[in-house]
Amino acid sequence: MDRIVVTRVPPGTVLDRLAGMGDLWVWQEDRAIPREELLREIAAADGLYCMLTDAIDAELLAAAPLLRAVSTMAVGVDNIDLASCTARGIPVGHTPDVLTETTADIAFALLLAAARRVVEGVDHVRAGRWGPWDPALLLGADVHGSTLGIVGLGRIGKAVARRARGFGMKILYHGRTRNLSAERDLGVSFAFLPDLLAEADHVVLQVPLTPETHHLINAAALALMKPTATLVNAARGGLVDPAALYAALRDGTIAAAGLDVTEPEPISPDDPLLGLPNCVILPHLGSASRRTREAMAELAAENLRAGLRGERLSAVANPEVYGAP
Ligand code: DGY
Repeated sequence: MDRIVVTRVPPGTVLDRLAGMGDLWVWQEDRAIPREELLREIAAADGLYCMLTDAIDAELLAAAPLLRAVSTMAVGVDNIDLASCTARGIPVGHTPDVLTETTADIAFALLLAAARRVVEGVDHVRAGRWGPWDPALLLGADVHGSTLGIVGLGRIGKAVARRARGFGMKILYHGRTRNLSAERDLGVSFAFLPDLLAEADHVVLQVPLTPETHHLINAAALALMKPTATLVNAARGGLVDPAALYAALRDGTIAAAGLDVTEPEPISPDDPLLGLPNCVILPHLGSASRRTREAMAELAAENLRAGLRGERLSAVANPEVYGAP
C-alpha cells in the first residue's frame, strides 16, 4: 500500500478520498509542518500532498527515496525544485484554472481598495472621525476609464483584463512574448515593461516568481511609475523589493499599493509597510473562497492519484517529466 504524506489538512472532504488511495500520514496542526517533521515523514513516502509553504527542494527529495508523485494545492510552484523532480522522474501536480477567477477577483478588489482608499475610509469611520461631508476627504484615483498595466498575461492576468474591460479601462500588458490572440480577443496592447510602468495608471503583477522575476519591481521600476499610480501584487511577494516599495509609498513616488502577498510571508507585525496608510495588505487570500479552495484540494488529490498510478496528471507543472511531446 502506498504511503501518502499530507502536510496540512485540506478543506472539504478530500482527506477521505486520499485515505482511499493509501496509508495516510497527515500533519494535523493548524500551521505549516516544521521542516524536520517533513524530512522525517517523507523518508517512507510514495506520494506527497503539499502546500505552497513547504520547500520541496533537493534536500527533501534526497530524503525521499520512494517518492513517485508530488501534488501541491496551489498553482504557483516556486517552492518546488521542478528540475530535481523531473530528474528523479517525479511528476508534480498543481492547481491551475480552478482558482483563476477567484484570484482575479482579489486582484481587482485590491486595485479598487488601494486606488479608492477604501481601508483608510473604513479606519476613519471606525476611529469616530467621520464629520460633516468633506469635499476633500480621502480623494483617490479613478479605476474606471483609466489605463491598466498587467505584467504577466497568463490565465489570471487575462481574467484581470476581462474585469478591466467592464470598467472601460485601456489595457496594456507585458509578457515574455506577444499574445496576438489575447490582443484580438481582449483588446489589450503589448508594451515593454518600462513603457507599461510609465503609461499605466494602475499596475497589476501576475507573473510567476522565478530567479528572473525576483524583485522585478525595484526602486528603478517604481521610479518609472506615475506619482498617482497604484501597484497591485496578487502573485508572489518576491516580485517586489519591499524596501523599495516602502520608500516609494512613503515618498509619494507612487500613490498606493495593494498586496495579497509579501516578502517574507507572513509579513512581520513590525514591518514598516504596515504603518503606511496607502498600503493595503491581505494575508494571501487570492484563492480563498470556499468553493475554489475545495476545488483546488480535489484537483490536487486527483493529481496525486494519477501520479501514484503512473497515469499522466491532469495538471502537471513539469510536463517534461513525460519526455518530449
Ligand atoms: C497559488 O495557488 O499559487 C496561490 O497563491 C494560492 O492562492
